[in-house]
Amino acid sequence: MHAIALDALRTRPQHMELPVPVARARQVLVRLEASGVNPIDWRIGDGEFEGRLPHVFPLVLGVDGAGVVEAVGRGVQRFKIGDRVVGRFLFGYVGGGSYAEYAAVHEDAVLTTYPASLGPGCAAALPTAGITALQLSRRLDLAPGSKVLIVGATGGVGMFLIQLAVMKGLRVIATAAPDAHAHLRALGVAALIDYRAQPVVEWLDGHFVNGVDGLVDLVSEAPVFAQHVEHVRAGGIALSTVGAARENELASCWIRGGNFEVNPTTKDLAIVLTAVASGQMKVEVEREVPLAQALIALEASRTGGARGKTVIVM
Ligand SMILES: NC(=O)c1ccc[n+]([C@@H]2O[C@H](COP(=O)([O-])OP(=O)(O)OC[C@H]3O[C@@H](n4cnc5c(N)ncnc54)[C@H](OP(=O)(O)O)[C@@H]3O)[C@@H](O)[C@H]2O)c1
Repeated sequence: MHAIALDALRTRPQHMELPVPVARARQVLVRLEASGVNPIDWRIGDGEFEGRLPHVFPLVLGVDGAGVVEAVGRGVQRFKIGDRVVGRFLFGYVGGGSYAEYAAVHEDAVLTTYPASLGPGCAAALPTAGITALQLSRRLDLAPGSKVLIVGATGGVGMFLIQLAVMKGLRVIATAAPDAHAHLRALGVAALIDYRAQPVVEWLDGHFVNGVDGLVDLVSEAPVFAQHVEHVRAGGIALSTVGAARENELASCWIRGGNFEVNPTTKDLAIVLTAVASGQMKVEVEREVPLAQALIALEASRTGGARGKTVIVM
């Protein structure tokens, strides 16, 4: 099968021809139709889980994927051949990823069936970014009408989080380059900051002197995150998805939150799928590319400039 894989951590991913995996006990073999690109994919190559999970080489990249169950291993109870499934191909070890024509994954992984109406590209865009946004939105336990600043709002997580925050009645202020402004307004964003034209904090000084009630920062390193936190009111909440929060400093300013880590669950994936299938939430797929262009898509994710999700179609 064709796959995008690494021979060792911190080496360049390559297009490889690999044997189709076998569904071992309690595993399902999925014929992948689409995989969603996330920053975690290249972070894994950089050693994100080194020392924390076993790595199997050649290490097939890709976490999110959607496809059809082709075979089931001994003892599988949750799935049967022919099921249309979506989920995360990261369970127990690193290397059996979704940037491939086939992947075998334990049935207890974050994996569920999905309605055919969604289509594999749309489904594959959901697991990591959708669950992260859902869990972030739950942490925003603020009254309707409260102001929340989302920094890095134009990517996979941001586009879902905007919609979930708007559904909670929050007033969303988002950072975005101008090309994305019209689109973000259509998603319900109340105010936009062109972070390339003006520092975010300068804009806040001019527009929201009393600060915001919530901050979700998806991109900033610690010094910039700390500047953004200065504009969160006491009693508010500030979250970083990139480990930039100094949690003791937040607590000393009476600000809740800190560094956020997603806890992916099948239950939350199902909630996100239902929200999309019922039309409550849109999936913003920026582009679909063939597996042959996966290396370019992966590099583009590292470089920045995402506008929603990129999906690889097999
Ligand atoms: N902790 C966790 O559990 C967890 C879970 C999921 C994701 N994450 C992390 O959260 C981050 C966001 O994930 P994602 O999937 O949304 O990534 P993404 O799809 O790559 O989106 C990132 C977005 O941020 C924008 N951006 C980059 N630098 C910016 C800046 N200085 N100010 C404002 N916007 C900026 C980018 O567009 P422009 O470059 O055009 O501005 C892009 O639209 C990633 O670092 C990811 O690894 C963490």
